[in-house]
Amino acid sequence: MKLVSDSELCKLAAEAMRGAYAPYSRYCVGAALLCSDGTVYTGCNIENASYTPTVCAERTAFFKAVSDGRREFVKIAVCGGKDSVISGAFPPCGVCRQVMSEFCDDTFEILVVQKEEPAAFDRFTLPQLLPLRFGPSYLTEEK
Ligand code: THU
Repeated sequence: MKLVSDSELCKLAAEAMRGAYAPYSRYCVGAALLCSDGTVYTGCNIENASYTPTVCAERTAFFKAVSDGRREFVKIAVCGGKDSVISGAFPPCGVCRQVMSEFCDDTFEILVVQKEEPAAFDRFTLPQLLPLRFGPSYLTEEK
């Protein structure tokens, strides 16, 4: 199985950004999530006139993958910017980091895209972006 490269994953995130529905903020966000079986799920942000139902690109990608039965993830690339123009980092919000924490171990990587072509990104692990994270292990009998 050939895993998609980091720069390919960043490119897929940038493509997914074009699907964003963001008429209120005009900030378009795209994500590409690599599963351990090599499949990639993309996502974009989807806003709502009532604002709070808005869902982020990262969660769209995760929920698509989880609803398809995927449970093991390797990394996610994320990019965003006003009117789809990437002008620097657009890192995942806290809620999306918590969703990652539900399904991912400490080796999970987040590639925060800085520039699209040629791809430039910063690499973080989940514990770097969400220290002392609350995950499923805290809800076991032993704790
Ligand atoms: N947004 C994401 O898609 N991902 C994040 O992690 C941060 C924020 C979206 C939500 C909203 O549609 C827009 O960016 C501005 O906050």
